[in-house]
Amino acid sequence: MEGIRCNPVIVLYFILAAIIPSSSTSMSEIAAVDRRLVDKKKNGCVAYNAIDKCWRCDPNWAKNRKRLADCAKGFGHGTYGGKLGRIYVVNDCSDNDMVNPKPGTLRHAVLLPEPLWIIFSGTMNIKLRQELIFTCDKTIDGRGFEVHISGGAGFMLQFVRNIIIHGVHMYDIVEKSGGMIRSEPHHVGIRGKSDGDAISIFKSSQIWVDHCSFANSYDGLIDIVAASTNITISNCHFVKHDKALLFGASAEMPEDKIMKVTLAYNHFGKGLTQRLPAVRFGFVHVVNNDYTQWKSYAIGGGDGATIISQGNRFIAPDGACKEVTNRRQVPESVWRKWTWRSEGDLLLNGAYFRESGNPHWAKTYKGPPLIPAQPAESVAKLTKSVGANLGCKVGVPC
Ligand SMILES: *[C@@H]1O[C@H](CO)[C@@H](O)[C@H](O)[C@H]1NC(C)=O
Repeated sequence: MEGIRCNPVIVLYFILAAIIPSSSTSMSEIAAVDRRLVDKKKNGCVAYNAIDKCWRCDPNWAKNRKRLADCAKGFGHGTYGGKLGRIYVVNDCSDNDMVNPKPGTLRHAVLLPEPLWIIFSGTMNIKLRQELIFTCDKTIDGRGFEVHISGGAGFMLQFVRNIIIHGVHMYDIVEKSGGMIRSEPHHVGIRGKSDGDAISIFKSSQIWVDHCSFANSYDGLIDIVAASTNITISNCHFVKHDKALLFGASAEMPEDKIMKVTLAYNHFGKGLTQRLPAVRFGFVHVVNNDYTQWKSYAIGGGDGATIISQGNRFIAPDGACKEVTNRRQVPESVWRKWTWRSEGDLLLNGAYFRESGNPHWAKTYKGPPLIPAQPAESVAKLTKSVGANLGCKVGVPC
């Protein structure tokens, strides 16, 4: 029975059945992939940005999967996930037992008390019955197949370190009621309702999310809260969502001052409204991203957040809402002191970035090295292959 459930043809049927009636997102994503594949055939390897260049041109990527572990840049630098562990192959897309998950399932893998490099036996859609609670030192590596996490709960990274999530599609994530769920190898407990975020990062550090595609979830696409830090989100594709990225959920959480997040080489595309991201307290480096659509604003926040925007392309929507930034309900006398800088950004179709704070921030900056910005004119190229649709085939460069 399990075998039938994971049959690729049947899975494809379910995936198509799930997306066709309700959404045009995934279809336009598929069109985008087709364009990229054509491009790839013509040019061979197409690694343009610093992270992709680290691994994509290796025709033996499938044998050297762990090479990816040395490629994190920005604040998530040094995140090596399951590099020191064995390869675990997920070959069962079911998620039926929250307490004693079946071997071969993703839930079984992420709960094992050892570093693991988790890959997949084929194309599959995993509909998580409840939030998927990670333990430390894991890599989820979807390369080689289409791995979809949709129609169920999302990923919960709480009290963990050192996680890489690469090459998965996450969409149509919904709230789940909670109940008895194993959250650690030796701990089962009652969990409350899950929020319906695609990825929720709570009191965790050293996290790298790369080449994932996100759309349409009940709550946020990625939430980073409760003093989480040292995180990079790169090469991801975001579409079709209202409040996409929330870094710091509450004005009552000044612990979030330690939060450091890099957003690099992502594409914020069709059907987004706001929070790309919204930041409280922390330091966010936004470098070489492509913002081609927002309805309300792109980058917002408050509570003394620091936002350094370098080499991004911002294309404002037609009509109103040309301002990239948003500091809702705070008087200028307050936000004037927050350091929000735009350096080398390409601002198009009337887009404008309202700067504030210290223009000489770089002179006093004491953190780890930032990803150097490329000219904003090259952003379209740097972000050409965002998302989980790399179409990696064994034996040829990705
Ligand atoms: C975050 O990274 C810095 C190095 O850049 C390190 O000093 C710090 O301990 C890290 N914090 C956590 C919570 O991992």
